[in-house]
Amino acid sequence: MATASQGEKKVVIIGAGIFGVSTALWMYKRGGYSVTILDKAQTLPAPDAASTDINKIIRSGDYADPTIAALNVDAVNEWRKPEWEGTYHESGVVMTAECGSAGNAYVESSYKNVCDNGIPAMHCKTSAEIRKAWPAKFRGEDAVSTLTNAVSTVTHLASPSTTRRLGQFHNRTAYLNPHSGWAEAGRAVEVGLRRIANEYGGVIRAGCEVVGLVEERGGDGKSVVQGVQLASGEQVLGDIVIVATGAWTPALFAQDGMEQLPQVIATGQSVAKVQLTPEEAQIYSGNPVIFDMKSGFYVFPPTPENIVKCAIHDKGVTYQAEQPNPNCRNDEASAKTGVSVPRTILTPGGEAGCIPLEMLRKLRHHLAEVYPELGKRDFIATRLCWYLDTPDGDWLIDWHPKKQNLLFATAGCGHAFKFLPNIGREIVNKIEGTLAPALDNKWRFEGRNHARDASTDSDLRGNEGHARVAIKVEDLATSHDLKADRFAAPQKIGNHSRESRL
Ligand SMILES: Cc1cc2nc3c(=O)[nH]c(=O)nc-3n(C[C@H](O)[C@H](O)[C@H](O)COP(=O)(O)OP(=O)(O)OC[C@H]3O[C@@H](n4cnc5c(N)ncnc54)[C@H](O)[C@@H]3O)c2cc1C
Ligand SMILES: *[C@@H]1O[C@H](CO)[C@@H](O)[C@H](O)[C@H]1NC(C)=O
Ligand SMILES: *[C@@H]1O[C@H](CO)[C@@H](O)[C@H](O)[C@H]1NC(C)=O
Repeated sequence: MATASQGEKKVVIIGAGIFGVSTALWMYKRGGYSVTILDKAQTLPAPDAASTDINKIIRSGDYADPTIAALNVDAVNEWRKPEWEGTYHESGVVMTAECGSAGNAYVESSYKNVCDNGIPAMHCKTSAEIRKAWPAKFRGEDAVSTLTNAVSTVTHLASPSTTRRLGQFHNRTAYLNPHSGWAEAGRAVEVGLRRIANEYGGVIRAGCEVVGLVEERGGDGKSVVQGVQLASGEQVLGDIVIVATGAWTPALFAQDGMEQLPQVIATGQSVAKVQLTPEEAQIYSGNPVIFDMKSGFYVFPPTPENIVKCAIHDKGVTYQAEQPNPNCRNDEASAKTGVSVPRTILTPGGEAGCIPLEMLRKLRHHLAEVYPELGKRDFIATRLCWYLDTPDGDWLIDWHPKKQNLLFATAGCGHAFKFLPNIGREIVNKIEGTLAPALDNKWRFEGRNHARDASTDSDLRGNEGHARVAIKVEDLATSHDLKADRFAAPQKIGNHSRESRL
């Protein structure tokens, strides 16, 4: 436990993802708090946390919701500061949508919000204009334009190998935001954790799984939370307990003695990676991130390790454990109550960490649409990464309605990473009663208006309107399925039986 001086509030934060880390940082910046962060993972950042990955998209104002867009522009100003140690890369982000679709409404509002924030975005209304959001060198069109004046006949002689590097974007509209980009996600969390410990003297404890609350009944019968109970039996006490447990939150609250939460659900989202050679990485390195609001597909430029990651932001899948697993409290809670729980590389029996075969097929299809040559490559890895979702795509930052001193700071809904530098400030504002009403109303626990409108929402999913499916372990991809030729024969698409894997 961090030792609190006189008058300091002792805070226990459960979870060392971006919500936990950002809250701790802002508590120390503001002063008057001493913080202990507890995380169940043995090493931090937790290998299976949503916040831990090679990269995440950092959009600068690319939100249909103007309030969140403004908060987002502020986050990017923070990302650019030296304290984030160069983890942010301003590659630009291209937001695309199918013409006339809900995604189109989202992208138009988002474009307007970006412009209103003074960012010189480039509207790309046709397929040809969208392609221009990529560097000419990459498109292979620079040679053409310089030669056109001299020899008019070479106009369409761009070499096939270069013209085929970039997709056609049929029936798409888009804009390029040059102030957006991506962050080295895991490294950024590490930077935050190091500052909490070294600069501010906060306590960070790995290997501490919280299994319940330490509570006392107040005079009105209301529970007063005094701390948390660890799996080891130890109690960690504090004046405020902050739940920042991401996709594991429903499992935590489904345990004995807790109260099951309505309206939040853990959803698994599919990610895949391609390894490039250093020479290939050089070719793709100047590219923007592209995020398609029709399919939810997005793909990054290569990381410093020459890896290209792609993923699909959609309704995701759920996982319900069938058997209570004595080695896994989450599965135990899931089998008992039916809540969806993360199935990750750290879940006993889930070590393969693989994605549904159908999602693998979609990832390859969409990757080939953007980068035809990369669509022909083997994937080196896939991952199911877990969101905590709300019905409206807005986060949950509020006091528990029935338990005093217990604050939720969670439900990132697949788009919270980019707020690592500033979301903690808003969480501290909530604690201190100074959160702006516009934000407070969005993030509260009860009485939210869940109506959706793509032209003003924070979030829109690839397969919006579809029901979520629960994964069956037998439908998950195996390492063989990562090979490029796996989906070469069209008749095999959609056949999930194991026998069909040659
Ligand atoms: C595939 C994928 C792609 C994404 N892409 C983007 C993107 O491009 N841009 C963007 O802005 N956002 C993105 N997001 C969303 C973003 O990553 C999340 O919103 C954010 O990281 C959530 O942070 P968190 O702190 O709530 O949860 P997490 O990072 O999951 O952290 C929760 C922590 O709590 C710990 N924990 C859980 N239960 C317990 C317990 N009982 N006791 C102790 N510790 C516990 C876990 O070990 C974990 O470390 C993406 C998410 C995924 C999954
Ligand atoms: C373009 O997309 C819209 C929206 O989904 C669709 O209605 C329309 O038919 C498409 N047009 C073409 C030419 O594919
Ligand atoms: C899937 O493949 C299996 C084994 O090859 C076959 O028996 C089954 O009929 C196929 N199912 C479909 C829907 O094609």
